Amino acid sequence: MDLIPYSRQSISEEDISLLIETIKSDLLTQGPKIGDFENSIANFFNVKYSVVCSSGTAALHLAYAALGVNHNSLGIVPAITFAATANAFRYQRADVQFCDVDPETGLILLDSLEECMANVSEKQKEECNVIAPVSFAGSVAPLDKCRNIAEKNNFFVVEDGCHSPGAWKENHQKKIIKSGACINTIASTLSFHPVKHICAGEGGAVLTNDPKVAEKAKKLRNHGINRPYNDSHEKPWYYEQEDLGWNYRLTDIQATLGMSQLQRLASSLETRRYLAQRYDQALAQSPFEEHITRPALEKGHAWHLYVIKFKDYKLRDLAYKFFKSKNILTQIHYIPLYKHPYYSKDLGELNLPGAESFFKCCLSIPLYPELTEIEQNRVMDTLEQFLNRK
Ligand SMILES: Cc1ncc(COP(=O)(O)O)c(C=O)c1O
Repeated sequence: MDLIPYSRQSISEEDISLLIETIKSDLLTQGPKIGDFENSIANFFNVKYSVVCSSGTAALHLAYAALGVNHNSLGIVPAITFAATANAFRYQRADVQFCDVDPETGLILLDSLEECMANVSEKQKEECNVIAPVSFAGSVAPLDKCRNIAEKNNFFVVEDGCHSPGAWKENHQKKIIKSGACINTIASTLSFHPVKHICAGEGGAVLTNDPKVAEKAKKLRNHGINRPYNDSHEKPWYYEQEDLGWNYRLTDIQATLGMSQLQRLASSLETRRYLAQRYDQALAQSPFEEHITRPALEKGHAWHLYVIKFKDYKLRDLAYKFFKSKNILTQIHYIPLYKHPYYSKDLGELNLPGAESFFKCCLSIPLYPELTEIEQNRVMDTLEQFLNRK
C-alpha cells in the first residue's frame, strides 16, 4: 500500500519551469522576484505591505521585533499552537504567558484571555506587549474580540496566520473577518513551509498596514542594515547597520515557487474545502459519529488541517498506530506548549482545561490538494476498520 502522508506539497510543471528560469538568471537571492512576490501577496490579502522572509518563524520574530518587543515585554499565546508562535517572543527575551483554547475548536478562548489580562500589572501594561491569536487549522481566530481586549489593555494583536491564508469568518454582527487582512491586528504572519497552502520550500511573510512596522521588519530581515542613498548620490554604495537584525532573507528561487503557488491558492483552497466536505459527509455516518467529533464545516475555513476528535480519548493513540500500520500518517496538533520542558521548567506545571481536552482527543488525518478521492476513501475505510476491530 502506498504511503499517505498527513500533508504534502503540490508542485506543478509550471512551478518547475519557472524555477529553472530563475536558477538560470543573474540574481538568486533578493532579486526582482522578491518585490513581485511581495506585491502579489499584498494584493491578495488586501494589505498595504508584505515583507517576505526565510520562514514563518522568522516572520513572527520580525513582526514582534518590529513592534518593539523586548526583555520587558509579555507575549500571550494560545497553548495549542506550533512552538514558533511562542518561541519568537523568547528570541526577544520577552516573557510568554499561555492562554487556554476552546476545547471544540482549538482557538484562543476569550474568557481565558480576559483572565490572563486580569493578572497583568498596570506597570506591565506600559510595556510593548502582544496577544498572538492563531487561526488554527485554517479557522480564523476571534480577531475582532482579541482586538477589543487588547485595546483595553494597551496590547498589540499579531495574528499567526500560518495555517489560514484565504480563510474568512462571519462574526456575530455578520461582518466578515479575514485572516491576514490586518483589520483587527497590527500584523499577521504567513509560512511557506511545504505543508502550508503556499509552498516555497521554506519561507514566510509579515503582513501589515503600518508603514513603520513594514520598514522595520524589512530592515531587520537584513541585519538591520539601511541603505540611505540612491544612485544619484555621490556615495550610492553607502550602507549602515542601525539595529541588530538577522539574515532572514528569502531567495528569488523561493519567491519564484511561492509566487507560482500563490496564483493557484484559490483553486487549492477549493480542493481543500471539497475534501473537507467529503470527510464531513463520511464522518456523519455510522460507525464514525458514535466515536468521533468532526470539525465544524465553516464556509470560509482554509483547511490546513482536518482535525478529528475521539470521544473516548483512549482511542486516539491506538488510532495513530493503527493508521501507521496501514501506511497512513496522521499527526497530533498540538501538545500544549506549556508541557514542553523548555517552558515547564520556568512556568511549572500548568493545566489549562480546554487545551488538555483538545490535545488528548485530537488527530489530524490526511488533507492536502493532491489527496485523491480513492486515497481519502482508504483513510475512511481504515478508520472504520479501526473502530470495528475486536
Ligand atoms: C501555527 C504556526 N505558526 C508558525 C509556524 C512556523 O512556520 P515555519 O515552519 O515556516 O517557520 C508554523 C509551522 O508549522 C505553524 O504551524
